[in-house]
Amino acid sequence: MRLDKYLASGLGLGSRTDVKKMIKSGRVKIDGMTGIRPETAVDPYCDKVYIDGAQARYREFAYLMLNKPKGCVSATEDAKLPTVCDYVPQEFKHMNLFPVGRLDIDTEGLCVLTNDGRMAHRLLSPKSHVPKTYIAELDAQITTEDIEKFKAGLILEDGFKCKPSELEIYGVNTAKVVIYEGKFHQVKRMFSAVGKNVLALRRIKMNRLCLDGNLGPGEIRELTETELEQLDDKRGGADE
Ligand code: URA
Repeated sequence: MRLDKYLASGLGLGSRTDVKKMIKSGRVKIDGMTGIRPETAVDPYCDKVYIDGAQARYREFAYLMLNKPKGCVSATEDAKLPTVCDYVPQEFKHMNLFPVGRLDIDTEGLCVLTNDGRMAHRLLSPKSHVPKTYIAELDAQITTEDIEKFKAGLILEDGFKCKPSELEIYGVNTAKVVIYEGKFHQVKRMFSAVGKNVLALRRIKMNRLCLDGNLGPGEIRELTETELEQLDDKRGGADE
């Protein structure tokens, strides 16, 4: 890859013009190379590139955890509304991150953003049955009958038969629900099927990855290696 392309698109250090200026002013060094020019070929995985003396860190993929606030859409862009991608820090902007799955505009909580399409596919594939845990505030207390119906697999208003899910009382008029699929408005529609309205919804877990309780609404950070494994058990495994 050309050095200027690597610095601009691979590392997000500015436009091609910006990075050409950096190179020409001598701020960029590569181990074992002299006469560095914008068109110099670099291997991001092998060559050691330094900017102002500090080694550049090349990463193909990034994985971020956002505590999605209400009022933004789970999309990369929207003509009118703020999106979850507006919360992506500047240093990751060049990586074209997208949300893994959708949360409704009024749903809060755990939203993972990445540019790792294979991982997103693994997590979202209906065959994967990845558990997603939500806390729902309802307009009534759930009953033991509701719990049994969720366990048996609810039938939604359009006839869709849900997979068995786990429902438990979490607080007064508040329930914890774990679902293994991700149909449009699924949790709200499931409660509607037992005659209850969801007043507020928060995702707290995806697979074994928990929302960091220290992240306030709108706060975002990178996942740790351990969290990444909790999110994606099949990471590094054979192709599915
Ligand atoms: N189910 C819903 O109804 N809404 C969400 O945002 C997520 C799951």
